[in-house]
Amino acid sequence: MGFTMRAVVLCGGEGTRLRPFTFTQAKHLLPVAGRPVVEHALAAVRATGIRDVGIVVSPSVEGQFRERLGDGSRLGLSVTYIVQPEPKGLAHAVLCAEGYVGDDPFLVYLGDNLLQGGIAGVVDLFRSQNPAAVVTLRRVDDPRRFGVAVIEGGHLVRLVEKPPNPPSDLAIVGAYAFTPLLFQAAREVKPSFRGELELTDCLQWLVDRGHPVLPYEVRGWWQDVGRPTDLLVANRLLLAQIEPRVEGEVDGSSTLDGPVVIERGARIVASRVVGPVVIGEEARIERSTVGPNAAVGPRAVVRDAEVADSILMDGACVEQGARIAGVVLGRGARVHLPMGRPFSAFLGDESTLEVKEEG
Ligand code: TTP
Repeated sequence: MGFTMRAVVLCGGEGTRLRPFTFTQAKHLLPVAGRPVVEHALAAVRATGIRDVGIVVSPSVEGQFRERLGDGSRLGLSVTYIVQPEPKGLAHAVLCAEGYVGDDPFLVYLGDNLLQGGIAGVVDLFRSQNPAAVVTLRRVDDPRRFGVAVIEGGHLVRLVEKPPNPPSDLAIVGAYAFTPLLFQAAREVKPSFRGELELTDCLQWLVDRGHPVLPYEVRGWWQDVGRPTDLLVANRLLLAQIEPRVEGEVDGSSTLDGPVVIERGARIVASRVVGPVVIGEEARIERSTVGPNAAVGPRAVVRDAEVADSILMDGACVEQGARIAGVVLGRGARVHLPMGRPFSAFLGDESTLEVKEEG
């Protein structure tokens, strides 16, 4: 009320757990269900009504983000890039956005977090209650891997990072709303044992000084993309939500079952596509079965093969009788294998997996 909120989407960090893919591409630009991870996050920001987004990026990948997202207008947003010189933690990343945010409250969203129900509820709660901060929480089975929150009387009273003996089962999800007081907190807290400025410490700083910090509990799925297996899990969750659409060519001897997206210029020849599946622009599917839960990237090729539960990035190729399930293929990666048992693998850009047939 009476203020314009901007969003800060954190896409810095190194993404070391997603190597080899992050040797060549920013983690947030890796594709899931046919779009970069960050585009799913940005769609969630747009659904809050916010239009101005500052994306915090590492210096080495700023160009990749600019090339893919430009000024944001394709997504209905106005995007500004903010460089975080070094990955010194989430609160440090937010501090880098201080000049961009100015004096109004703002939304912070980790660009690798995906939420079934989106993040509009965070903004709505903030606008209706005007607290110092809103923190998104979700009940989890094993809170020891997460930041954990304790609630009393409807307010957050304590936050602990990865506690061996969790005081609650409420994990802290990567979506927050703050007043600019957060910047003062980020300047005053000390780096943690891992040398990073932590948002949890900033939140505790607010709580300790009597500022109201409100929980916003979500119940739908929450998936963050940290490791290669997370790419596949996120792919399945997001494919379950696709709106079917066929813009490419499907020949008369092919069949499509279930929800399928076939992008412009893609060609399906003598094949079976079992949704949920996304086939990217200019991809070729010939004499193959694709799906369920497959995302075939732009210009990728599947020929005489079976592909399920996998992500094929731009220009990847699976052929000669290969059967893959649970595979992530980097850009231009190739799998040539005679028919065998389905196998799973994570292959970086331009790598080849081949079995030479005898004779
Ligand atoms: P993390 O997944 O904790 O860190 P990371 O992306 O560097 O990955 P890894 O542990 O595999 O090396 O980061 C969570 C989110 O916060 C992610 O969207 C990246 C972002 N981030 C920043 O923007 N700046 C930072 O300094 C850090 C540490 C993370």
